[in-house]
Amino acid sequence: MEICPLAGALGAEIHGVDLRKGADWNGIHQAFLQYAVLAIRDQQLEPADIMKVGARFGEPCHYPFVTGMEGFPYLFEVVKEPEDKKNFGGAWHSDTTYLRQPPLATLLYAVETPSHGGDTLFANTAAAYDALSDGMKKTVDALIGVNSAELKYAGGRTAQHGKIKAMKIHDTESADQYLSEHPLARTHPETGRKALYASRSHTTHIKGMTEEESAPLLNYLFQHQIRPEFTCRVRWAPGTLTVWDNRCTQHNAVNDYHGQRRRMRRLTVGAQTPQ
Ligand code: SIN
Repeated sequence: MEICPLAGALGAEIHGVDLRKGADWNGIHQAFLQYAVLAIRDQQLEPADIMKVGARFGEPCHYPFVTGMEGFPYLFEVVKEPEDKKNFGGAWHSDTTYLRQPPLATLLYAVETPSHGGDTLFANTAAAYDALSDGMKKTVDALIGVNSAELKYAGGRTAQHGKIKAMKIHDTESADQYLSEHPLARTHPETGRKALYASRSHTTHIKGMTEEESAPLLNYLFQHQIRPEFTCRVRWAPGTLTVWDNRCTQHNAVNDYHGQRRRMRRLTVGAQTPQ
């Protein structure tokens, strides 16, 4: 197994492993903790194989707004067709932080990819936390963020996801009922590192403050944590499986491939209460 870092802050490519045949799982787990985003190249994974790989990281989690694949309720397809303009996941976020116990990891497997474009950006929110001043760390450490599934910043989930015709989206009208409070800076249970845990997609305000009062600090953190030096970029090819750590990263699916199809399979695992 060869591990090649993708950027200074986070991310690595893994070559020379066939996950169906077995792997150095301890080595992969160590790399996951060290790099937070692993793009494992040249796999040939059927849905059952993705479930098996996911089980190495945690129990599967249910995604409330997209129907799973036939026989695989936890695994769903993320699809953008040539005629679609909107994509899924095209804004900075950590996955489903509006749940009380969000998933520790997401697995995304590329089935069909555009000839170019359709990359996913990642940001290391632990590095972003480390770069704050002591005063700002102290402020953030004391605050709780309120997270909603409603995608308020983008005009609402129904309006946004209604434009994604190729996916089996449902129940978006109930998105405003998914609300969770989590620390603005959480501590990674395995590495002990603190990481910012707020995103423009899901964090609407700070507990005990109005949205207007919260906005200046939140907007600062949203911009700070995606500074180029905290990021990496995964370029996809069919057969790439990327696994990322939602506890210390955010991601953004770049929507720059209109006229081409992109089809991925996505699984989240390891429900965990952010502390
Ligand atoms: C997601 O946000 O889960 C999807 C990311 C992607 O399609 O690159």
